[in-house]
Amino acid sequence: MARLDRLLANLGYGSRREVTDLVGRRQVVLDGAIVKDAGARIPITADLPDRLLVSGQPLDPPAPLTLLMHKPRDVVCSHREAGRSVYELLPFRWRARIPALSTIGRLDKDTSGLLLITDDGPFLHRVISPRSHVAKRYVATLARPLAGDETEIFAAGTLMLDGEKDALAPAVLEPLSAAVAQLTITEGRYHQVRRMFAAVGNHVEGLHRDRIGGLDLPADLGEGAWRVLTPAEQNAIFR
Ligand code: URA
Repeated sequence: MARLDRLLANLGYGSRREVTDLVGRRQVVLDGAIVKDAGARIPITADLPDRLLVSGQPLDPPAPLTLLMHKPRDVVCSHREAGRSVYELLPFRWRARIPALSTIGRLDKDTSGLLLITDDGPFLHRVISPRSHVAKRYVATLARPLAGDETEIFAAGTLMLDGEKDALAPAVLEPLSAAVAQLTITEGRYHQVRRMFAAVGNHVEGLHRDRIGGLDLPADLGEGAWRVLTPAEQNAIFR
């Protein structure tokens, strides 16, 4: 159960005061009846957006909310970084949500592909925890043809990146063509894929993530598009 005014304020519809005004203006309808009391306590169920209308529109999905996005190139994953952010691809109101939405790990500005965004702290930690062994798969387009020894070097579990003191965990490289390769990693070190190829004398020109755990980037989700992650997709990540 939650107080209606607090629920709507936490979903970004305005301050408690503004939400009370909204109720006073008969803009909130639950199960077909106008809500008169902004302090009414209502059960938060998954079907609430089907039952509660605000200004004639279905309520935004309440927390916990996880989104799957096809991140385009040229947008950043952090509020702090300069440039357009992935959060700007979501409804404006969602920037005021409490708990806040944040990306599960990050993709570089120049990287496209599967990105998860959530307000569910335990889920976020479960995905990024090394104990979960959630693999991430990338397709890298390289400046130079593969030399042929990268698969073995990456699989060895001995590769050291510049400035780091621990070797990388084994990673799986599969060449797709002369200068395009699929790389599956289980860690999430800073610029990891780009630095791995730099460590073997190559350079990543294009990078795309197409899989997290057992979850593939849906083929019908175009660049910049996003949708709510289904429970089945959520489970697929840990498969
Ligand atoms: N590795 C990188 O170098 N960049 C990314 O965006 C993700 C993994």
